[in-house]
Amino acid sequence: MNSRVFTVGSLIPGKLMVKPPSPVPPESKKTETVEIVVEQNGSKIEITPVKGKLLDAALNQGKPIQYKCRKGTCGQCTVKVIKGKGISVPNELEQKKLKNEIPNGYRLACQAEIV
Ligand code: FES
Repeated sequence: MNSRVFTVGSLIPGKLMVKPPSPVPPESKKTETVEIVVEQNGSKIEITPVKGKLLDAALNQGKPIQYKCRKGTCGQCTVKVIKGKGISVPNELEQKKLKNEIPNGYRLACQAEIV
């Protein structure tokens, strides 16, 4: 007794019902989203880049950065950029407030823009 079961499709020449090999899933892309790391008062803060002010991005992500005026005058939001892609060049307020600290990576989080 033949227990083999044929279907209409399996009987069509050249249409053997051989299961094709599973496609190899594409290598999962590395989804590292943290591209900005700043330091303030000895604490490192990782920020996922979102267009807008660096301070707003950090606060919206629940990352505490000290600040006060948000106008670029008090200097409370000064951070040192440890790692950072896509941050604007320092504006006039930052240049005026931070002066020689800019080449060392210091920025005003309320003024630095993520672009
Ligand atoms: S909060 Fe005052 S300079 Fe940024």
